[in-house]
Amino acid sequence: MNYFEPFNSYIDLEKMKLSPEGELIIRKLNDMAEMYQNQEAVKESLKENPVIYKFYNVQIPEESGHLQHCISIVYPGKIGNEYYMTKGHFHKIKDTSEIYLTLKGRGKLVMQMPDQKSKVVEMKEGSISYIPPYWAHRTINIGDEPLIFFSVYRGDAGHNYGIIEKKGMAVIIVEEEGKPTIKKNPAY
Ligand code: F6R
Ligand code: ZN
Repeated sequence: MNYFEPFNSYIDLEKMKLSPEGELIIRKLNDMAEMYQNQEAVKESLKENPVIYKFYNVQIPEESGHLQHCISIVYPGKIGNEYYMTKGHFHKIKDTSEIYLTLKGRGKLVMQMPDQKSKVVEMKEGSISYIPPYWAHRTINIGDEPLIFFSVYRGDAGHNYGIIEKKGMAVIIVEEEGKPTIKKNPAY
C-alpha cells in the first residue's frame, strides 16, 4: 500500500491565489493565438499579449487511485467578439470524467464528443458541472469579472490538447448584440 499524507489547500478568492501554490500555469494570448477566429484582433491584442487564464495544479501523483484537482481562473475579456477561453482538451485516458465547481463569475462550458456532438452548460457561482467520459471541454468567461472554478478528475487521466489545437471546437461563444451567443465555428 502506498502511503500518502492527507493535506489541505486553500483558495483565496479575493487575491485569486492558492496556497500552497502547487504548480501555477499561466497562458497568455501568444500561447493560443491561432485558436481565435479574428486574426486581425489577435495581432492587435498581441502587442499587449494579455494573460487569458491561469490555473493552479495541486501536486498529486499521476496514479488512478488519486484525484487531481485544480483551481482555474479565466480573466474577463474578448479577442474581437470572441470571449477569453481556455485551450480545451480531451483527457489522455478518454473514458475519464471530471467535475467543475464554479466559485465565482459567469461562464460557459463547451463540451464535445469525438463524433463532434456538442453541449454547452452555464457556469455560475455554485454550479457543479459534470463532464462525462469522452467529452472534450473548454471554459469561456462571458462575464466582466474573473471566472474561478475548481476541478477534480482521475489521477492518471492526463491531457490531450492536440486535436483542439489543430481543429478548434465545433462551436464558439461570441458576443452578439451585447449577449453571449453560441455559434457554429466557421473554421471547423
Ligand atoms: C483539468 C481541467 C482543468 C483545465 C484548466 C485549464 O483536466 O479540465 O483544470 O486544465 O481549466 O484548461 P486547459 O487545460 O484546457 O488549458
Ligand atoms: Zn479536463
